[in-house]
Amino acid sequence: MAPNALVTGTSGFVAGHLARRLLADGYDVTGVDIKPPRSDLGDALRQVTLDIRDRVGVRALLQEIRPELVIHAAAQASVSVSMREPRLDVETNVVATLELAQEAAAAGTQRFVFFSSGGAVYGEPAVLPATEETAVEPKSIYGASKAAAELYLGVVADQTGLEVSVLRPANIYGPEQNPHGEAGVMAIFSQRMLRNELVTIFGDGSQTRDYVYVEDVVEAAIRASDGVPDTCDISTGIEVSTGQVFETLAQLTGYEQPVVHDDERPGDIARSMLDPTKAGRVWGWEPQVAFEDGVARTVEWFREQEAVS
Ligand SMILES: NC(=O)c1ccc[n+]([C@@H]2O[C@H](COP(=O)([O-])OP(=O)(O)OC[C@H]3O[C@@H](n4cnc5c(N)ncnc54)[C@H](O)[C@@H]3O)[C@@H](O)[C@H]2O)c1
Repeated sequence: MAPNALVTGTSGFVAGHLARRLLADGYDVTGVDIKPPRSDLGDALRQVTLDIRDRVGVRALLQEIRPELVIHAAAQASVSVSMREPRLDVETNVVATLELAQEAAAAGTQRFVFFSSGGAVYGEPAVLPATEETAVEPKSIYGASKAAAELYLGVVADQTGLEVSVLRPANIYGPEQNPHGEAGVMAIFSQRMLRNELVTIFGDGSQTRDYVYVEDVVEAAIRASDGVPDTCDISTGIEVSTGQVFETLAQLTGYEQPVVHDDERPGDIARSMLDPTKAGRVWGWEPQVAFEDGVARTVEWFREQEAVS
């Protein structure tokens, strides 16, 4: 029989890619999201509309499908929203994560893979790149929620024997990222530039991030599903400024408008870069897609979307 997997957040960016990959790998996949099912994921994916904060609903679903593997990517994933609506963030990212893991363990799940955030849990470390040894000192409610969820998952693992792997991704980018959100610079800039609309950078553009391509992150999640359960940064170890992202995308899209600057947003950090060495050692994972290639593929996808819209 095909192995059974439950993936949360499949109407979103990363879990959509992940669901497609698991189906291609022969898994029987159920996707869960509070948003309506996506039409572009094919009939093979069973999509259930469910709020993961609904414990009774979560329990019923897990008892019904009894997945060997749960990959938990659903989240309140915006730093700004977390600062404005901390309760929503904590309920979604902490309480629902804890209960999902407890219910998964009760349903006989063997492996639970959790999407934490390497960009958020370390805050602003004095020394970059951050490694898994770097102190966890989040600067946002979102980062604190992800860090707290990791701790609770450790307790569930201890109590129940559930194998928990934690991914701490840097900034993920690629096709299908939502260009209307408050985060996801690559998607927002790509779409706006292709439409020749003004592009705003919060701050002076010198803030940096470590950009990891979505297919590389999907590969990391697959390895976290069957490798040794552990916690690893998923990143490139390369620091790229928002100004550089702007320039690279402007070149690829032929954009000629001047950049607009606005105030930095609360909770945003100035610099971020994570060391991917441990994921290489533990899961044999390393990023394969170079920044220039990933950006080109991303722009290509957004260009196709513009052509059909
Ligand atoms: N995108 C990044 O740069 C990045 C970086 C590090 C970590 N992460 C983490 O990776 C995961 C995936 O991120 P993404 O970029 O695909 O985010 P996304 O916002 O595109 O997808 C998250 C999905 O979760 C769903 N969701 C939110 N609340 C829910 C609820 N109560 N019940 C059911 N579904 C709910 C949303 O509807 C959305 O479809 C998240 O856990 C995020 O925190 C993302």
